[in-house]
Amino acid sequence: MKKILFVTSEAHPLIKTGGLADVSGSLPQALAGQGVDVRLIMPKYQAINTTEEIYYKSTVRVNNADANILETRLPGTQVLVWLVDCPEFFDFPGNPYVDEQGIARANSAERFALFCRIAVEVAMNRGYLDWTPDIIHCNDWQSGLVPALLSLEASRPATVFTIHNMAYQGLFPKATWDLLNLPRPLWNPDGVEFNGLLSFIKGGLAYADRITTVSPTYAREIQTADFGYGLEGLLSHRYDNLTGIINGIDADQWNPETDPNISERYDFSTLNKKKLNKIALQNQHSLPVDNIPVFAIISRLVEQKGIDLILECLPEMLTLPLQFVLLGSGEKRFEQQLSHLAEIYPDKMAITIGYDEALAHLLEAGADIFLMPSRFEPCGLNQIYSQRYGTVPIVRKTGGLADIVVDAIPETLSNSTATGFVFNEATSGALMETIKRALIVHSQPDAWKQLQVSGMQKDYSWNNSAKEYMALYDQL
Ligand code: ADP
Ligand code: GLC
Repeated sequence: MKKILFVTSEAHPLIKTGGLADVSGSLPQALAGQGVDVRLIMPKYQAINTTEEIYYKSTVRVNNADANILETRLPGTQVLVWLVDCPEFFDFPGNPYVDEQGIARANSAERFALFCRIAVEVAMNRGYLDWTPDIIHCNDWQSGLVPALLSLEASRPATVFTIHNMAYQGLFPKATWDLLNLPRPLWNPDGVEFNGLLSFIKGGLAYADRITTVSPTYAREIQTADFGYGLEGLLSHRYDNLTGIINGIDADQWNPETDPNISERYDFSTLNKKKLNKIALQNQHSLPVDNIPVFAIISRLVEQKGIDLILECLPEMLTLPLQFVLLGSGEKRFEQQLSHLAEIYPDKMAITIGYDEALAHLLEAGADIFLMPSRFEPCGLNQIYSQRYGTVPIVRKTGGLADIVVDAIPETLSNSTATGFVFNEATSGALMETIKRALIVHSQPDAWKQLQVSGMQKDYSWNNSAKEYMALYDQL
């Protein structure tokens, strides 16, 4: 049986800030279903949320620091999770990466370097856990030093590094490198050094045996200057070892037929019940209960997500017969501008600043149209959840959005393959035009229903993508 150690900084439902947690919480389960012995390793933050028991397993010493390894399971599954418990580094409340102001936490480099060192000890079966993995599957910059450190081991497991987002690289000054006391050979332009800085992500990109990212289109995009952030050269150089594998979803958790967080359950054959969720959503947000299209957004409020484009469109959007509901948190300037507009248009727009898992489900169920005008989107999960809930997505043609949503043009409408609306240019003009295009189709009930049903009937479970990961592991 193949043994995989899955290294991640977040996993739903233990802790989540975004899609990485969704993937880390569901892909390992899918792999276990394919007959893999997969175990997760992640930090033990204060905010870890579980009712599963947590046991002490061992204490490992690295770089003059002790960390305990605790064992638990991904809630509701048999998948084992090892939690790296080092209170000095991880025992703080709230978000793992940023403080209440949204500013990166001060000692992230020290914390994730320790985490990587412990993951390496476990990978080398020096964690007193009596388990030797064949493959170490790392995710994003927080685990980037793992392939780098493992490259120095004489006999080591194979390594895979998955890029969920090139925009977050774990870049730190040279002084941080000096402080971390990492092996000197790693500091070179073909190693973790990047223009005189320490780059955690480069540890993964330069040293992992295979690199993957979360959609085929993003795999191509990151080899260009617009998306590669200076690492496009390295990525094109490693082209033969770089694959795009589209994310799947946890199809049990995101299922309108069984979802406990929504007001009325439905599937594609009982779509008329979806409007009861819309009424619940309108009531919950003190919006008039009115059968006009409800537009929704659930998002981190950051540049990536095209929130500025939404802000530019809102004044015109709100003159049209529609309502707008948003759930999100992130950059303060976006939070403030959105709150300001919501005060001016209380009958048309409602926003919730914060993080609310249950509300996210109700929004997917109650809205008619989901907006995702991302400037870039490695994969994106909400356009998939939306399709599953018969909520038609409007997306920009980038990354996984381009790979997943089929634009409603005459041809795709007539052959019933369309699942949403896609636009090219990252401008508010292009977004507004597409919103109007969607409203026209929305006014044609049969065409709209076909769009909803086509999206709902697609298989977005991990079945296919887990097989692609299996094929990749087999090559190693
Ligand atoms: P990213 O990882 O870039 O944030 P994804 O679309 O891959 O984007 O995943 C985002 C995930 O986080 C989705 O599951 C989405 O529902 C969830 N999410 C984002 N913001 C919130 C929020 N404010 N409250 C609840 N869930 C949220
Ligand atoms: C990142 C990306 C998002 C992707 C998620 C999971 O946070 O921004 O597009 O869906 O990771 O892979």
